[in-house]
Amino acid sequence: MATIGLIGAGHIGSQIARLAVANGYKVVISNSRGPETLSDLVAELGPSARAATPLEAAKAGDIVVVTIPLKSYESVPVEPLAGKVVIDTNNYYPQRDGHIPELDNESTTTSELLQAHLPSSKVVKAFNHIYAAQLTTHGQPAGTRNRRALVVAGNDPGAKATVTRLLDQFGFDAVDAGPLKEGWRIQRDTPGYGPRRTADELRRDLAAAKRYAER
Ligand SMILES: NC(=O)c1ccc[n+]([C@@H]2O[C@H](COP(=O)([O-])OP(=O)(O)OC[C@H]3O[C@@H](n4cnc5c(N)ncnc54)[C@H](OP(=O)(O)O)[C@@H]3O)[C@@H](O)[C@H]2O)c1
Repeated sequence: MATIGLIGAGHIGSQIARLAVANGYKVVISNSRGPETLSDLVAELGPSARAATPLEAAKAGDIVVVTIPLKSYESVPVEPLAGKVVIDTNNYYPQRDGHIPELDNESTTTSELLQAHLPSSKVVKAFNHIYAAQLTTHGQPAGTRNRRALVVAGNDPGAKATVTRLLDQFGFDAVDAGPLKEGWRIQRDTPGYGPRRTADELRRDLAAAKRYAER
């Protein structure tokens, strides 16, 4: 049974943990305050779940999800994530995260920042443009007409294929937005950020996205 490690167990982390357990994965969840603060969630998730520190979750996960406020990305453990697929759900909200000049001037993207922090990991951007509650309500079996689609972006094709399979298990089609540097196409305030979209609609949204400077 594969293990999904979660760094962050808030709105998105807890929902991904629920989907993972429902689909037969083990999960190791973590947050900033310590495993003892996650006992209710572990009890809800059942015997496939345990709480740990971020370091332990990073070590335990075959796939690891980073789902914390972006401003804290440099606290993510580096060495235990080497060689692993790391899913990045994070978005940039300056009012929450403080200003990050290279994001304000659009010389990089959020997931490229995480990839630079984790140079030996295979970072895949996913789950960043769906409301947390919808993760457990919008999924449908493969082949369902008008199934909701979610974006994957990443520099490693094998890692993107892994996350595409995971999305399919969780009930969603995947649309490949390209390498991480294209991740801005699904950042906050773009057409695809938030609404329910099929794969064709999401491809159109990605093509129509504009950089902040172009608006
Ligand atoms: N909410 C949504 O619908 C949604 C949708 C898509 C993407 N996102 C993005 O996904 C990320 C997570 O969002 P969220 O809504 O799940 O946030 P959230 O509910 O505020 O949860 C954040 C989680 O991260 C943990 N955390 C904070 N700093 C940490 C650190 N340094 N190391 C380990 N864990 C840490 C928090 O633990 P403590 O409580 O112990 O501090 C908490 O469990 C954000 O970047 C957000 O923009 C959110």
